[in-house]
Amino acid sequence: MNFHILTLFPEMVMGGLSTSITGRAMEKGIISVEAVNIRDYSKDKHRHVDDAPYGGGAGMVMQPEPICDAYEDLCARTGRRPRVIYMTPQGRVFTQQIAEELAREEELVFLCGHYEGIDERALELVATDYLSIGDYVLTGGELPAMVMIDCISRLVPGVLNNEVSAEVESFHDNLLEYPQYTRPEVFNGLAVPEVLLSGHHKNIEKWRREQSIRRTLERRPDLLKGANLSKKEQKYLEELIREQETGENEPDSH
Ligand code: ADE
Repeated sequence: MNFHILTLFPEMVMGGLSTSITGRAMEKGIISVEAVNIRDYSKDKHRHVDDAPYGGGAGMVMQPEPICDAYEDLCARTGRRPRVIYMTPQGRVFTQQIAEELAREEELVFLCGHYEGIDERALELVATDYLSIGDYVLTGGELPAMVMIDCISRLVPGVLNNEVSAEVESFHDNLLEYPQYTRPEVFNGLAVPEVLLSGHHKNIEKWRREQSIRRTLERRPDLLKGANLSKKEQKYLEELIREQETGENEPDSH
């Protein structure tokens, strides 16, 4: 998977993504990350890439030419015309499902805006997708691009050491992840649940599924609509809902 980031702050995205798991995946050649400095495509002698908005108003707008030139150069280098995702709070909100869809692409371009935004014509000409990371406004698209690249990368085979962990974690099957424990067995008076020490794999698996269902009901009940539960698990969920309604076994407050 090859990620290309069109940005005015290449050191920001490369610094973040060269660290930890994505950094290791880059070293191993499983993913590549290239930051293209839009400023390198300015034809202005002062390397300007922005100007005042027509019609007036505060702030500066990124001009279309350097952005389009940067994209065309990228197409010429890769021999393809990859999807271009524009980072904007006006876009569809990024989800695990969108990440799974994007992980099937071989090349992806992330276009990061700054200042008051990007000249609409650049977006008309190159943007194929508009994505947001949530209903709040950031100063630029770099952090959203890093969030999305991190999320997509961990779905690329070989990026995580443990192949199953990408599947089992939160949101797989629309259920949140079960609680995890490691040594020591008792910490500050709190013991690891007995079943996890039993070595009985079937019971452990059942306990973990039930914990996932319980947790999802407590923290993100909206996800349960899309969960794939067995008949037994459905019964367990109904039991939990009944308990909630009658106030029995108050859900924990973590
Ligand atoms: N640019 C500024 N805010 C953003 C957000 N929430 N998501 C994506 N891009 C952005």
